[in-house]
Amino acid sequence: MCGIIGYVGNKDAVQILLDGLTRLEYRGYDSAGIATVVDSEFNILRRVGRVANLIDAVDRVSIAGFVGIGHTRWATHGVVSEKNAHPHQSAHGLFSIAHNGVIENYESIREFLLGKGFTFESETDTEILVNLIEYHFNKEQDPENKFLKSVQKALFHVRGTYGIAVLCKDYANEIVVARKSSPLLIGIGSGEMFVASDASAIAQHTRDVVYLNDGEIARLTPSDFFITTLRNESVDVVKCELDWRVEDADRGGYEHYMLKEIFEQPKALENAMRGRFSDDLSTARFGGLRMSTRELRQVDRILFCACGTAWIACLVAEYLIEKYARIPVEVEYASEFRYQNSPLDKNTLIFVISQSGETLDTMAALQEAKRKGFRTLAITNVVGSAIARESDGGIYQHSGPEIGVASTKAFTAQICIAAMLALYLGRMRDMSFEDGALFVQALHDLPSVVEDVLAQGDVIEKIAEKYAHHDDMLFLGRQAMFPIALEGALKLKEISYMHSEGYPAAEMKHGPIALVSEKCPCFFLATQERILQKNVANIQEVRSRRAKVIAVATAGSELTEKFVDDLILVPNVHAALQPIVATIPVQLFAYYVAKFRGCDIDKPRNLAKSVTVE
Ligand code: M6R
Repeated sequence: MCGIIGYVGNKDAVQILLDGLTRLEYRGYDSAGIATVVDSEFNILRRVGRVANLIDAVDRVSIAGFVGIGHTRWATHGVVSEKNAHPHQSAHGLFSIAHNGVIENYESIREFLLGKGFTFESETDTEILVNLIEYHFNKEQDPENKFLKSVQKALFHVRGTYGIAVLCKDYANEIVVARKSSPLLIGIGSGEMFVASDASAIAQHTRDVVYLNDGEIARLTPSDFFITTLRNESVDVVKCELDWRVEDADRGGYEHYMLKEIFEQPKALENAMRGRFSDDLSTARFGGLRMSTRELRQVDRILFCACGTAWIACLVAEYLIEKYARIPVEVEYASEFRYQNSPLDKNTLIFVISQSGETLDTMAALQEAKRKGFRTLAITNVVGSAIARESDGGIYQHSGPEIGVASTKAFTAQICIAAMLALYLGRMRDMSFEDGALFVQALHDLPSVVEDVLAQGDVIEKIAEKYAHHDDMLFLGRQAMFPIALEGALKLKEISYMHSEGYPAAEMKHGPIALVSEKCPCFFLATQERILQKNVANIQEVRSRRAKVIAVATAGSELTEKFVDDLILVPNVHAALQPIVATIPVQLFAYYVAKFRGCDIDKPRNLAKSVTVE
């Protein structure tokens, strides 16, 4: 949520900032702005709306510089306006700041600063912070590191979250950056340094990066960087090499990132499985769990926590792990878990799932679990992300960058890892070698099965066209297909703004059936042969109330065209993997409905890719 970029070096900072903001735009697109320092003066340019508006404005004014910061905003405090767009300047024009996060005690700081003669132009919490920095700068006696020290002192008084990049016009060759709960990484170049909210913004310039930790603050100059903490403690600097290519974050000829990422799923699944099967091909193995077989066998309950689509992946994990490993599993919204103090048995293992590895609520749930002394593991996509580093161990998805705001390939990769976990834990308990080998074979075949489903894109596009004018839709499924119904509804409402609900198919009779009419089509996920007749009965119930029915069923199923209006057939696979296979049609359906409705698919209204506020 909100993207930050900063550059200090000997190149045209403006171009680097604009390129970076274009790549960061998926983090927020309410407004965008840049600031540079030239001859001890700030050049600041801000525009409401997309980065393209800013680029347009840059073409018409002269703005240059070798040091600068940029920001793309997802509004929290203050309406979407140019006045509230970042970078913000301090009252006496000494500092400029780009900020991602929320300053919770901004009201009291504002009162304090008003008393000291400061004035404010915007409604943002960020403007309070940049003025607090200026206040401490004016008080600072020691000329050495005055810029860094004043930011340190200001942050000491701040409650909330921040990733910041600050410029001072008296220190025209420096950027000071700091983080608490909002991601920030430093990119190390030759004679130049970068800072960004995520690697996509700087990967074209350097592969050498340092991820800042919470409570750390750094000073960047063209030739060097220095990291310390708010208390001036020394920091062990860990340099990493980025593990993905710039091209991975491009649209690659697809009209939208979302479509590209839907079609990348066979590859993402392969990557999630690579190197993770035992030599005898009867179970999975994971390098990063940091738990012995003995410790894993002692686990008698698992609690999964996440948000949004990742939370839905947790629901699938619940079905799979309970069924194949016979370990009781609970699933909580991360935002609920952190405040509710649930009674948990001491042998409970806590798993969080997060594509970005930076979702604030998920991070807070993880920290709460750690505070209580539980072992925590994370499934994340972004290597080196805050959640990956905070957990005791974990599993990387290796899905590659996911830029589309609607999560697609990350979701199926998360389920794939959940299935492998179910296999792994199951084989430690009751699952036989033969059943394990069948499971592994099914996983091995999965990418090509998903290719086959993707090949039906045209069919699904035609079906989507028929339903794109509706205002409401229900998604229904039983057992492990219930979470896929939730995911179908979430994808559809998120990118097409069509109201949609996901429900367990039978539960529909206990309320939602009141919505059913010819105006509310029902999308059934009905791939399980064992309970096919139950689904067919539910289909009859909604059809007799004149609802149109779309269904996903398996090839050869008794669920034929005569029962439904539109049928999408998918290959029959191992039951554990059916949720993945059934996800592809709901993703494509949502995508094409949104396209027919003329929606901005990669940047749906009000949303941002990673939610780093509560
Ligand atoms: O990065 P995370 O997986 O932690 O993100 C969680 C949710 O914010 C995310 O899945 C969101 O619901 C997506 N927009 C869904 O498509």
